[in-house]
Amino acid sequence: MVYILYQIGVMVEMGLVSLEEALQWDVRQTRQEHKEHLNPVLAQMMVLLNYDRRFVRAEDTYVWDENGEKYLDFLGAFGALSFGHNHPKVIEAVDRVKELPNYLQVNLNAVGAALAHNLAEILPGDLEHSFFCNSGAEAVEGALKLARIASGKQKIIAAKGSFHGKSMGALSLTGKESYQKPFAPLVLGIVHVPYGDAGALEKELAAGDTAAVILEPIQGEGGVIVPPEGYLPEVRRLCDKYNAYLILDEIQTGLGRTGYNFACEHEGVVPDIMCLAKALSGGIIPIGAFCTTKTIWNKAYGTMDRYLLHTSTFGGNTRAVAAGLAAVELLVEEDLAYQAREKGQYLLNRLRPMVDKYPLLKEVRGRGLMIGLEFHPHEGGIVNKLSGGAVNKLAQEYTGALVQGEMLNKHRVITGFTLNNPNVIRLEPPLTVTYEDLDHVASALEDILSQYKSFLNIAFGSARTTIGSIFKR
Ligand SMILES: Cc1ncc(COP(=O)(O)O)c(C=O)c1O
Repeated sequence: MVYILYQIGVMVEMGLVSLEEALQWDVRQTRQEHKEHLNPVLAQMMVLLNYDRRFVRAEDTYVWDENGEKYLDFLGAFGALSFGHNHPKVIEAVDRVKELPNYLQVNLNAVGAALAHNLAEILPGDLEHSFFCNSGAEAVEGALKLARIASGKQKIIAAKGSFHGKSMGALSLTGKESYQKPFAPLVLGIVHVPYGDAGALEKELAAGDTAAVILEPIQGEGGVIVPPEGYLPEVRRLCDKYNAYLILDEIQTGLGRTGYNFACEHEGVVPDIMCLAKALSGGIIPIGAFCTTKTIWNKAYGTMDRYLLHTSTFGGNTRAVAAGLAAVELLVEEDLAYQAREKGQYLLNRLRPMVDKYPLLKEVRGRGLMIGLEFHPHEGGIVNKLSGGAVNKLAQEYTGALVQGEMLNKHRVITGFTLNNPNVIRLEPPLTVTYEDLDHVASALEDILSQYKSFLNIAFGSARTTIGSIFKR
């Protein structure tokens, strides 16, 4: 579409693309536009992994490409699609409020109040105040600020290998140096301790100057790391002993994913502050939230000079919170946490025996439908020696991506490696997934593992698909 506009008396021609035109773009055109206007290296990586196709429909666990080929989505938007793609109840809820003002800051929003009410019903302990925002990182930012203002202290303890997002405050907590280094200096007063080590945590807490400890109940992007039994209750005890708040980041683990409405319920731990996002609006509209107790909320923002210290323009918009109401209702009505527990155990039982059978697979771990598959990082042997260790390094970085490529290109299963640990593939399907689809994924993995014994095997074996995909285009 060409528009002619008059700007300060001068005629300017503009080639604006309409929604209808964008929907008709083929893979090549979309890639070109990405290269020119978004992230060119990401566009190139999609080609390398042969991920670059045009998906035209999504429903529940499935997506379809333009050739009518059906795929199973076991990546599930990094855990955001707990209710599947485009759940009709969530879409219906958004549709139901389409004529209401989506934002009207001079008015109290009934739908937002209802979602906060329902969260208070399902959250553990006395977490009953929520603040709505638009992403996980933003929820973490809010929790960080809340802990500091309510405690009057500065120090925050986070875990190595953690992932809390990539905005400046959240990135300062995220325990991965390569993400942090280019952006230094980060937020001051943050220290990292090994995840799962209560002794190391106590040493940091001992001075009594800590505002909060922030942890994921299971580290997601760290490679689906389940802490030792008893660790979280011990952290709770230590936080109480040294008068520090406990923030649990349940952005990935929350809302049924691990077999409980919230992963902390596995060991009966109640945090002082909880962060939510991802599945909270059924994967339809961006949303985030931090939730806390009445006492902490009032300490932080309970006075006339403080109640507007933390705000967000789009936070709590009507459509997002309407989607949230539908999502929470689905969680409770369909007992999706129980479904995740049963289905997760079934899948783990199918996958775990493969560790002893196939040399490429090192470990299978997880809880509920948050499962990680770790691959052996070493190639070893003469090839690695001859390459001066380069093969091992490549294996560490790319084995997960290659298995992921095989799962997609040969078996039509979408998976993804974890951000902090690319040697781990995560399986996070919608909690509504069928047993038949779990079987399909287990068989697909077994097929790949029985074919490829090592990184070099899979690198050369899959090169035909991967390199072929580059020349095809
Ligand atoms: C545990 C956890 N916290 C925070 C985030 C950041 O969420 P967002 O990408 O919505 O900012 C993520 C994202 O993967 C996450 O897994």
